[in-house]
Amino acid sequence: MFAGPDAPENLAAALSLVQQDHRRLGELWQAMVLTLETEDVSLFRDSVAALLSYARAHFRNEEWVMRLADYPAYADHKAEHDRLLSDAEDMLHNLDVAFVPPDWPAVAAFFRHWLNKHARTADADLRAHLRDRIGGEESSLRVS
Ligand SMILES: [Fe+2]
Ligand SMILES: [Fe+2]
Repeated sequence: MFAGPDAPENLAAALSLVQQDHRRLGELWQAMVLTLETEDVSLFRDSVAALLSYARAHFRNEEWVMRLADYPAYADHKAEHDRLLSDAEDMLHNLDVAFVPPDWPAVAAFFRHWLNKHARTADADLRAHLRDRIGGEESSLRVS
């Protein structure tokens, strides 16, 4: 007897993976901040590109979880992911063509806001929906 893909234990595992991704995104942002003082152009650019690349993969994962959980705000949330990626790609392009090291702290501040605003709004709503669907199963399966 197998549980369906949207069974509470599977949604709990999916939520854990999403939360691991969020922690990793925070670490990648910290790594970006650590490269600020080096004034090494390729190092800073790589740190921004790494965050963007991980975020792109994370957004696809999160969209899969939303479909799995029949999340009613899927379309709006996905549209926000698409807009965030487009904004981040613009910022990376600006970094390549226009910005110099004194501008980099503003780039890091942009990405802090870029991550946090979405986490506190759209992702917080999704987390609440998943916790509703998971019910009492979540605590036994949460990975910390
Ligand atoms: Fe999201
Ligand atoms: Fe997310």
